[in-house]
Amino acid sequence: MTSLFGRDFLKEVDFTAAELDSLIDLAATLKLERAEHRERPRLTGSAVALIFEKSSTRTRCAFEVAAFQQGAFTTYLDPASSQMGHKESIADTARVLSRMYDGIQYRGAAQATAEELAEYATVPVFNGLTDEWHPTQMLADFLTMREHAPRPWGDITYAYLGDARNNMGNSYLVMGAIMGADVRICAPRALWPADDVQALARERASVSGARILITESVEEAVAGADFLATDVWVSMGEPAETWAERIEILRPYRLDSTVVRGSGNPEVKILHCLPAFHDASTQVGRTVAERYGMTDGVEISHDVFESPASIVMDEAENRLHTIKAVLVATLARNP
Ligand code: CP
Ligand code: NVA
Repeated sequence: MTSLFGRDFLKEVDFTAAELDSLIDLAATLKLERAEHRERPRLTGSAVALIFEKSSTRTRCAFEVAAFQQGAFTTYLDPASSQMGHKESIADTARVLSRMYDGIQYRGAAQATAEELAEYATVPVFNGLTDEWHPTQMLADFLTMREHAPRPWGDITYAYLGDARNNMGNSYLVMGAIMGADVRICAPRALWPADDVQALARERASVSGARILITESVEEAVAGADFLATDVWVSMGEPAETWAERIEILRPYRLDSTVVRGSGNPEVKILHCLPAFHDASTQVGRTVAERYGMTDGVEISHDVFESPASIVMDEAENRLHTIKAVLVATLARNP
């Protein structure tokens, strides 16, 4: 396996397809080991700092449980319980944590903060989501796709619908481009990935042979797809007032049963990184349902979310195995 020992994990484009594949392979191996009750701890005595400037369920839990199952210790730092940013610079935080920890996870708004932490840290830094990229999520999604369609990436087609200039839109575009998949990004033009992200994707696609389609047409995007993915229409950190305009322009891009049928593929599978607004059982879901009459889900309809085609819980579980792979590959001397 390609050695990733000591490497940061900040964004997909820092890696080759072979390196990303090696992480997905390692995650599958670790998942099997655990299922067969023969997991070997490779990180005994290690410690990982988890800086969360935005909230999380899956990413935090996956880092904590992955570390624990591999014998490592974690410290959870939220904005209120750390000095970073307000009383201490990013550079100083990185240098201090490097003296005590073997790795640092960062979730926050700016990719520049993750990059700065990595610049000053002497231990690997992992991006647990920024406004620009969600690379650990991509490893989980690609492992999930491989489990449900075990074929070369060149034979995999996926379409991502919704807010495509957020972290998930960017990451799906660039990860698929690196791996050589057939990638369709579907959104109103105002929500397409930024030009520099598109350029990055096209550059990597020219190497991998990936096919890239960025389109406003749902019909065109979903035709023949193996996987359909979406994400929330208003991301963490965006003001609540954004909902009105997003709903207005994204309504035609909702992942509902008509869109699923439009794939023409009876075996098509559904992905969502979660959390999802698929009913009115959350505060935001309820507010949006009442205000905009979307009682049956916002970015994804409830029936699609709960359908047999939905593999979102496999995807959520795979956050654990893939984040464990990142920890083992970058921190373990004997992975
Ligand atoms: N998908 C994901 O990153 O979930 P959390 O925000 O709960 O970590
Ligand atoms: N785009 C979403 C992803 C959540 C995992 C957000 O940034 O809030």
